[in-house]
Amino acid sequence: MAEFIDGKRISQEIKDELKERVAQLGTQGITGCLAVIQVGSDPASSVYVRNKKRACAYIGIQSQSYELDEHTSESELLELIDKLNKDEKINGILVQLPLPKGMDENKVIQAISPKKDVDGFHPQNVGALVSGLPGFVSCTPAGIIQLLKRSKIEAAGKNCVVIGRSNIVGKPMSLLMLRENATVTIAHSKTANLREVCKRADILIVAIGKPRFIDASYVKEGAVVIDVGIHRNAENKLCGDVDFDQVCPHVKAITPVPGGVGPMTIAMLMHNCVEAMAARIPSAN
Ligand code: GUN
Repeated sequence: MAEFIDGKRISQEIKDELKERVAQLGTQGITGCLAVIQVGSDPASSVYVRNKKRACAYIGIQSQSYELDEHTSESELLELIDKLNKDEKINGILVQLPLPKGMDENKVIQAISPKKDVDGFHPQNVGALVSGLPGFVSCTPAGIIQLLKRSKIEAAGKNCVVIGRSNIVGKPMSLLMLRENATVTIAHSKTANLREVCKRADILIVAIGKPRFIDASYVKEGAVVIDVGIHRNAENKLCGDVDFDQVCPHVKAITPVPGGVGPMTIAMLMHNCVEAMAARIPSAN
């Protein structure tokens, strides 16, 4: 029987650890505040932003939200970021993505001070990850590392296949698995013989963005499967990139959707906020 990797439980465990650490820092007069910026009113982004603010309240740090009109100009957004960079009370700045069309996402990300870049998206933090230096790490891949570690799943020496090469998930995920001494393959939409490539994986991490794309024919018997996808099917039920029911009987461990990777992103965002608050650049997640 496959083990279900319980992201809901593990994320709660992490948030409870952070809550204690925030209380401890509070006794030294250190407080935290995350600035969350949303441009426009994309409903999915609004849900994420609300959940991030709720998590801040839970662990005991403040949050400030900036809900900007979708017609806000890029220069107005850059001005706000500049103001928040200079504000000593703010230790973390997060700009919810995607931004409205016409805004240069890279320019906006680069405007955030790397010391306050709790999303880990700034090229300085990405470069630090590549070079094995301390820095903030993108939250979803950092959360997946925690899922594996806290489920006692060893990565060293294993064949790990990551499907997806986004800046937010696929690329940092591959680097983190390399840091854990896995042998890493990055697969993507142009990969030839994707099925055969996936079948070699001891650990298969799927961030392909297509509902239930990965069926049992892609998975090695006894593999560990991590599903980053989240979609709503025709009956309005949540599902991932993996056909859970079909794959489950063949694997050693698997993350469910919902309740797998999803809750980990916010837990690791809180981790990064607490590191920023303690003015310590994290060395490892
Ligand atoms: N949009 C989707 N995922 C993320 C994330 O992790 N951070 C931000 N800022 N925007 C996102």
